[in-house]
Amino acid sequence: MSHPAMLPKLARHYDRLAQHYDSVMDHLETWLLGDWRAWAAAQAYGRTLEIAIGTGRTLPFFPQDIMVIGVELSIGMLKYARQRARQWRRPTLLVRADAQALPIRDKSIDAVLSILSLCTIPDHRRALAEAYRVLRPGGRLILVEHVRSSNPAVAAIQQLIDPLSVRYACDHLTREPLELLPHYGFRVLDVQRRWLGIVERVLAEKPL
Ligand SMILES: C[S@@+](CC[C@H](N)C(=O)[O-])C[C@H]1O[C@@H](n2cnc3c(N)ncnc32)[C@H](O)[C@@H]1O
Repeated sequence: MSHPAMLPKLARHYDRLAQHYDSVMDHLETWLLGDWRAWAAAQAYGRTLEIAIGTGRTLPFFPQDIMVIGVELSIGMLKYARQRARQWRRPTLLVRADAQALPIRDKSIDAVLSILSLCTIPDHRRALAEAYRVLRPGGRLILVEHVRSSNPAVAAIQQLIDPLSVRYACDHLTREPLELLPHYGFRVLDVQRRWLGIVERVLAEKPL
């Protein structure tokens, strides 16, 4: 469930984290995601939207010939994304906006990417519905997310610590975006998991 009052709290949380985010992720990312960020970027094409783009860590991986739009709630995170975009030197539009209410026309986007974001966005269902709305028919949804583990013992631990994680890190540990995709109209094309099923990558499409 989303509550409008959560957005300022979330933005403040990431504003505070922004200056440390890249150094933390530099240490964690290969271990956590392997090469899945590069995989996600390679699936993008045409006019691509990355929701909750953070510090823009995916930018250097995108194909050279695409147009990237990034939306992000935290001005602190956006500052770093803008620095990356300047170095990347490709057509990039970075906007402070809510992934739950995108300021983007229906059916105007070829690919929507979300990396480690649906765990944080307060109402991930609304974000998925928005992704569907802005995608053109035939467009791709590309997800790399941490989710509820497929291992029951690990999932039980996640369930136990989830309230603390949500409260202090704005991070939901037990979400299962894959299960929601058919409900919003997406057709799932490929799914892979790693780390006891905690990290998931999904390629889906909005049917023609
Ligand atoms: C864990 S970080 C991931 C950042 C980036 N996707 C990456 O791969 O490094 C989660 C990001 O989601 C952003 N975020 C959370 N809720 C959002 C919303 N409703 N709209 C836009 N961005 C949001 C946060 O500000 C934060 O930058």
